Amino acid sequence: MNPTTDSMTEITLLQPDDWHIHLRDNQALATTVAHAAASFNRVICMPNLVPPVKTFEQAHAYRTRILQHLQDSELSAERKVSFDPRMTLYLTDNTTVQDIEDAAKSGIVEAVKLYPAGATTNSADGVTDINGCLDVFEALEKYDLPLLLHGEVTDDHVDIFDREKRFLDDVLAQVIIKFPTLKIVLEHITTSDAADFVLSQGNHIAATITPQHLMFNRNHLLLGGIKPHFYCLPILKREQHQKVLLDVATSGNPKFFLGTDSAPHATDKKENACGCAGCYSAAIAMPLYATAFDSVGKIDKLEGFASRFGPQFYGLPVNENTITMIKTPMQVPTDYPYFDGSSLTPLMAGETLPWSLK
Ligand code: NCD
Ligand code: ZN
Repeated sequence: MNPTTDSMTEITLLQPDDWHIHLRDNQALATTVAHAAASFNRVICMPNLVPPVKTFEQAHAYRTRILQHLQDSELSAERKVSFDPRMTLYLTDNTTVQDIEDAAKSGIVEAVKLYPAGATTNSADGVTDINGCLDVFEALEKYDLPLLLHGEVTDDHVDIFDREKRFLDDVLAQVIIKFPTLKIVLEHITTSDAADFVLSQGNHIAATITPQHLMFNRNHLLLGGIKPHFYCLPILKREQHQKVLLDVATSGNPKFFLGTDSAPHATDKKENACGCAGCYSAAIAMPLYATAFDSVGKIDKLEGFASRFGPQFYGLPVNENTITMIKTPMQVPTDYPYFDGSSLTPLMAGETLPWSLK
């Protein structure tokens, strides 16, 4: 198969991984684990549970709950064997160097996540002053454990559309001077500023990009009425930023790789006077990314982004199994059953995507 022709209607890729996902906990896992494991082998499980995953022991217990739901699911035996949730610790003002050492030696903790306190969903226990984390950063650097960043400042007076750029300028620029070899992933980047920042650094600094930030901009969120299912953090930006993200994601540069940031919130919590932030995409993530890449004639670049560059950054082998995607339209379900009688509305609910999983 020659994957560079415009007329391509089928593409086989190494099995992708998701380097940023929210599976939530307990009953939610019945839905989220089956959806994630249907498409991905490794998934980086974000730790913003209530209460957060702060230690290696908590990460281990959380992983056990995830695997239990995997076994209870109706997935094939092959998917059950391949699925490998990789854990993260939630950095707080009280995380110790010992916590990092234990995590690094655990074999299941792949990275540490920094949420500036108040930046997003379940971030109240996050870091209030990054200067209080310097010993932890030193330990991460020593153990070669990546620091995953929710890169937004939280000062009340900073405009929501400027929060990512201000984080780069005011916070990250200082961190990288003090820790020049610290591995960093700028998660779910949303601006050309973030893309430029990552491009200007060495290969130890990378970024994940979500399907929504490749396919949509703030007009989709706000024109003609507020569309709560497009509301996530960092918030969708101008079209010019969307275009740059699509450029870098499809460029074949290994600094940019797949992280869905699939973030389930029950439909009634999204369609609400104070709607939760997060787009749910796990079950349809690959058709979404394929649609985005194909929209600029770059479907041939999907395998690098989805299946090669993430493991390369994390120092893990690429997967050996494959998936096949076909250019056959699929209708995105209007909703999925969630727990306690609630439902989950996915990104692009009820709409038709040109690509589907075979
Ligand atoms: C995420 C969530 O709901 O946990 N929400 C979101 O809008 N992306 C948290 C996060 O990654 O910011
Ligand atoms: Zn997230």
